[in-house]
Amino acid sequence: MHGEVQIFRDLEQLSRQAAEQFVHLADDYQKRHNRFTVALAGGSTPKTLYHYLASTGYSERIDWSRIEFYWGDERNVPLDHPDSNYHMVQQTLLQHVPISKKNVHPIAVEKDIRHAAVNYAQLLQTQLPLVDDGIPRFDLILLGMGADGHTASLFPQSSILHDKAMVASGYVEKLKAWRVSLTFATINAADHVWILISGAEKAAAFAQLTGEHASDYPISGVRPRGELKWLIDQTVSGETYSS
Ligand code: 6PG
Repeated sequence: MHGEVQIFRDLEQLSRQAAEQFVHLADDYQKRHNRFTVALAGGSTPKTLYHYLASTGYSERIDWSRIEFYWGDERNVPLDHPDSNYHMVQQTLLQHVPISKKNVHPIAVEKDIRHAAVNYAQLLQTQLPLVDDGIPRFDLILLGMGADGHTASLFPQSSILHDKAMVASGYVEKLKAWRVSLTFATINAADHVWILISGAEKAAAFAQLTGEHASDYPISGVRPRGELKWLIDQTVSGETYSS
């Protein structure tokens, strides 16, 4: 298994530490590159991190004018739909902090989801630095993991697992729904990738990641050129947190 594993007592502690590390990384990139580009995760786990970032003690330590937010994946719904990952981030973070609309780049899937993927790839290529092979490079990508080992919207057996495009859309049979997602090509070009995992229902998949069937779990495909961190709680690791 690649990367550094940090084990926390629970989701609260994990999220507080992630918020603290976010503040420092943002400051470091803004000092060196004058901005900080982040692809945000959807789902429920990062909501607590987003709440912390928006709260006193964190929010005022972040220069929101020099952060650019993007999304790692999106559902096939309008941006104001309760299932939309953009909507979730809007509710938990964006509406509480002084960030300008021009720094926020949701994946717009109102029309055809395949067009959304192509348009988003074009946006990333024009807005972000490109690594040698023309793939956009994020400073930080936040990810989660499902109990089946999916990450972003890269699900087991998905047609887009090996897609060479930067952003792809695919039908997820188990959800009977279309999703649009960064592909491994883009995820693995990032400088930093943080995977946030909380909850006992994820423990079995996490344990498999060091076993011989690890490649059955899409998240095992996360091997960035930069740094990889797993921020997990003790229900996921199976190890008791001590400190
Ligand atoms: C999404 C995601 C997805 C998520 C995992 C974990 O759009 O749902 O980006 O990959 O991170 O499904 O979700 P939970 O945090 O809700 O368990």
